[in-house]
Amino acid sequence: MRFFAVLLVPLVFAEICPMDKHAICNTGHLSCTCSVSQEDEAPVPEISCNALIARDLETGNFPVVSVEFDLNNSAEALEEFPEDAFRDKISSSLRVDEEDVIVLRTSCVGTDDTLTIQFVILKKDTNSSALPFAIEDLIDAESIATRMKAMGHLSQIANLDVDTIEYTEELVDLEFEPSNLELIFKAILLALIFGFFFVLGVWKLTKKGDEYADDLQKP
Ligand SMILES: *[C@@H]1O[C@H](CO)[C@@H](O)[C@H](O)[C@H]1NC(C)=O
Ligand SMILES: *[C@@H]1O[C@H](CO)[C@@H](O)[C@H](O)[C@H]1NC(C)=O
Repeated sequence: MRFFAVLLVPLVFAEICPMDKHAICNTGHLSCTCSVSQEDEAPVPEISCNALIARDLETGNFPVVSVEFDLNNSAEALEEFPEDAFRDKISSSLRVDEEDVIVLRTSCVGTDDTLTIQFVILKKDTNSSALPFAIEDLIDAESIATRMKAMGHLSQIANLDVDTIEYTEELVDLEFEPSNLELIFKAILLALIFGFFFVLGVWKLTKKGDEYADDLQKP
């Protein structure tokens, strides 16, 4: 599998998705791992972004704003998500401080053409050192999503096409399995290689054992 991954990486190195490295979001004492890549064998470099928020103990849910980008047209030249430009656009649109925008996920959600960013915004009077943040420490994610949806200029953020903006309580997984298509492709490739050697083996066997091959086929 690793062998095929190595073959495929050069073809996709200049694109945001799929990610071949773990992603770190935010800076300073809030920097955290917001995406874990299966291609990256290095240990996860920062605490998980889950440590910043007090998630529901049973479901793991937490209210966030989720922005889904369509990378089909816009991301050819980018190697990673332009977090600074995103932060800048969000903070200026919503008139909040840049450092109050806290990104919890940047995920390719197992695809090549969709990037999902999930974030929250701290209230003005929240002590940003008092972790983890509770829902009350944050501006209501549902109303942020509603305001953002109404802003026509947010059809693009950081030069990336916005597909959807929505309120959700479901955080995307930190680590994503490769997409089904990729798995199917790899399975077919393996089957072909296996089939080739199988046929080769059978052919060699029958060549060697021409004289008793007939006997083998009798019941
Ligand atoms: C990107 O393009 C592919 C193939 O053209 C299409 O299947 C997919 O839905 C597109 N992605 C988005 C987010 O529109
Ligand atoms: C903020 O929280 C930290 C950690 O809980 C605490 O040490 C600090 O005193 C707090 N600062 C203020 C201004 O409340």
